[in-house]
Amino acid sequence: MVIPLTLNQSHVSISKLEEVFGTQVKTIHQEMNKGTSEGADYLGWKNYPNEISLNELEDALKAAKKLRENADLVVVIGIGGSYLGAKAIQDALSPYFEKNSDDPEVLFAGQNLSGAYMKQLLSYMGSKEVAIIVISKSGTTTEPAIAFRIMLEYMEKRYGSSASERIVAITDKSEGALREMAVRSGFTSFIIPNDIGGRYSVLTPVGLLPLAVAGVDIEQLLAGAKKAIHDLSNADIDSNIAYQYAALRTLLLSEGYNVEILASFSPSFETFHEWWKQLFGESEGKGGNGIFPAAVAYPTDLHSLGQYIQDGQRMLFETFVHFAEEAEDCAIPSSKENLDGLNYLSDKTLNEINEVMMHGAMEAHRDGGVPLLRLEVAKQDAYHVGYLIYFFQLSCAMSAYLQGLNPFDQPGVEEYKNNIFRLLEKPGHVIAAL
Ligand code: PA5
Repeated sequence: MVIPLTLNQSHVSISKLEEVFGTQVKTIHQEMNKGTSEGADYLGWKNYPNEISLNELEDALKAAKKLRENADLVVVIGIGGSYLGAKAIQDALSPYFEKNSDDPEVLFAGQNLSGAYMKQLLSYMGSKEVAIIVISKSGTTTEPAIAFRIMLEYMEKRYGSSASERIVAITDKSEGALREMAVRSGFTSFIIPNDIGGRYSVLTPVGLLPLAVAGVDIEQLLAGAKKAIHDLSNADIDSNIAYQYAALRTLLLSEGYNVEILASFSPSFETFHEWWKQLFGESEGKGGNGIFPAAVAYPTDLHSLGQYIQDGQRMLFETFVHFAEEAEDCAIPSSKENLDGLNYLSDKTLNEINEVMMHGAMEAHRDGGVPLLRLEVAKQDAYHVGYLIYFFQLSCAMSAYLQGLNPFDQPGVEEYKNNIFRLLEKPGHVIAAL
């Protein structure tokens, strides 16, 4: 049987990890299961893939089918946890260039406030049949709310009274402006469960609906996550790789390694880096604590940040994500003249060389004093990406708890959001003196 995910490292023995963190990990595990850990009101993601009902899944698939039939471009509006997960998985699982002609194009808005981006998107939309998915848990976040206002005006001008049939809202069950708008305008809508925070929500309708529209097999995605729930349900460090990863990170932090670099060699995995950065950065970076999450795309970054990683300040450790089986490959041809001198590689493929590159980089960085971790994923497909998502979510919660932090709040982000309301003089917002 192929193991979906393994964790390799030589920094510390598992028995040492068990000795240092075993008891604490068990206590946190039990508290999470009992719902008594800090922030436990936001632990809904832990079993959600098992709990999502057939009806909910069918409703999401039905809505996705309707959008796919009526639109050749679907714009997904959202930011942070209401954006990154769907984009990460879509990019990880879609072809690079020629998309499947049955799948509508899926583009994103509301994750930036660039006037040029919006203007060009609106102009591009003119040549397509369009639908909108708008996602915001709070229903009040400024960036997506502005994007949706602009898009709604566009849709109403273009499609008149049938515009609302082309709009799906994903938001809180009862709170926020977006819920109010969905009710009043009769948009099809889905609920973001109130016990799941933004960055832990990709396996709810927040990610599932846009991904189903994009043609991703969401049942396989959930199947992978369910397998992870099963595999990672043990309280013991020695048999739970999510807890091993969390404990290792905490140990490395205590040794002065306060930056973690996620590294991969698959260009389609780069947006996943962004999702991972948000998950860990927002869960741990509070009260002067946490590991700073950074990421590199190799081999591109071996020719830039690779220098720093090799030889700069020794405060970073590196986590490689490697996919054991690649769907496609490309052979290196042999050449009669061999003017470039590359015939010595002509019995090899690009994936084989990419793998050699990884070993070369790992060896160099280890020699440069960088502690290394390697996550070996069996395949880059929906099932394994679902598994990986759950693995990281569970590791992140454990890792934050091990550092004494609440993994589920984001006071810094809320502070920024409030400042925006104040600076833009949002009516009803209390203006505090500086
Ligand atoms: O993880 C989080 O809670 C945040 O990143 C939110 O997802 C982000 O701020 C967007 O919030 P909302 O979905 O309420 O618009």
